Amino acid sequence: MCKVLVLPGDGIGPEIIAEAVKVLAVLNEKSVIDVSIDNGLVGGAAYDAHGHPLPEETLVKARDCDAILLGAVGGKQWESLDIAVRPEKGLLGLRAELELFANLRPALLYPQLADASSLKPELVAGLDLMIVRELTGGIYFGQPRGIRTLDNGEREGFNTLVYSESEIVRIGRVAFATAQRRGGRLCSVDKANVLECTELWREIMSSLASDYPDVRLSHMYVDNAAMQLVREPKQFDVMVTTNMFGDILSDCAAMLTGSIGMLPSASLDAKGKGMYEPIHGSAPDIAGQGIANPLATILSVAMMLRHSLDNEAAAVSIEKAINAVLDDGLRTSDIMSSGMTQVFTSEMGDAVVAKLA
Ligand code: IPM
Ligand code: MG
Repeated sequence: MCKVLVLPGDGIGPEIIAEAVKVLAVLNEKSVIDVSIDNGLVGGAAYDAHGHPLPEETLVKARDCDAILLGAVGGKQWESLDIAVRPEKGLLGLRAELELFANLRPALLYPQLADASSLKPELVAGLDLMIVRELTGGIYFGQPRGIRTLDNGEREGFNTLVYSESEIVRIGRVAFATAQRRGGRLCSVDKANVLECTELWREIMSSLASDYPDVRLSHMYVDNAAMQLVREPKQFDVMVTTNMFGDILSDCAAMLTGSIGMLPSASLDAKGKGMYEPIHGSAPDIAGQGIANPLATILSVAMMLRHSLDNEAAAVSIEKAINAVLDDGLRTSDIMSSGMTQVFTSEMGDAVVAKLA
């Protein structure tokens, strides 16, 4: 029996998580998996209940389980809080405390949704790329950081971009291994022409290459990478990059596929334990209306089965079910196009469940 901790979070989080839990339940019923589900609070919901976005109780459960399924965190009503207790800190705290350093963000274009992309169909048809983002280091966590007042009375904000060799090596190895399992091409993204920290990043990525003779390594500056992503995205197979560059490039890559509502992610530690979440946010503007797209979260369940629960067959069955539902023409509003059938969040979840049952 595997233990899964479910953290719905804020905004549309609870709505999309409910559909993912339905999927886990049907797979349990069919004995395809053997999973027990526990629930916890994180983000603004946790702040409201306990005064902290990552309560001790949640952290204890998170350490104890085999995998975590998270909805999304954040919302307007918490934006004025001190940065130390904002909902985002719940997410960052989980990543740091559990050492979930390897963030896998696939950008896969479903052929059924080709015209949802803002790029020309021929540029994105067949798009299948994977961004491997470093998740527990870099400027997100570097010290010192803060806002200080100088002698002349002016204030100054500062953060630190720092990576140790071992941090670069471990994310590099995940990326090379990911490229080995895919198309054998890895592009490391840095700003080595300006930032010493990423000069070291480039040097270490290059030094790892000899251990992976079947992977073709290339390097690209981040500004060029952003441009290439929208110019010719299919040139990429796997991209590996720092925490902040990965944050930015993965949103860009997501939109190539037409809807950020379709993309899952995995955040893994060294042993394969992971936290799984859709890459979109809490979308407060549509929360409570039952119209959010639950597919990214359901696809996150598939990633969880693949990477943490060692059940590739179940992962594939979920992905197939989603393909079948899209083939049937069902669309939530974010991916709706003419001739298709618009459905609510729960109808989409039920349709996937029906395919699995
Ligand atoms: C993401 C999000 C988070 C990040 C925020 C919510 C802290 O944008 O997962 O990409 O910046 O990492
Ligand atoms: Mg982001």
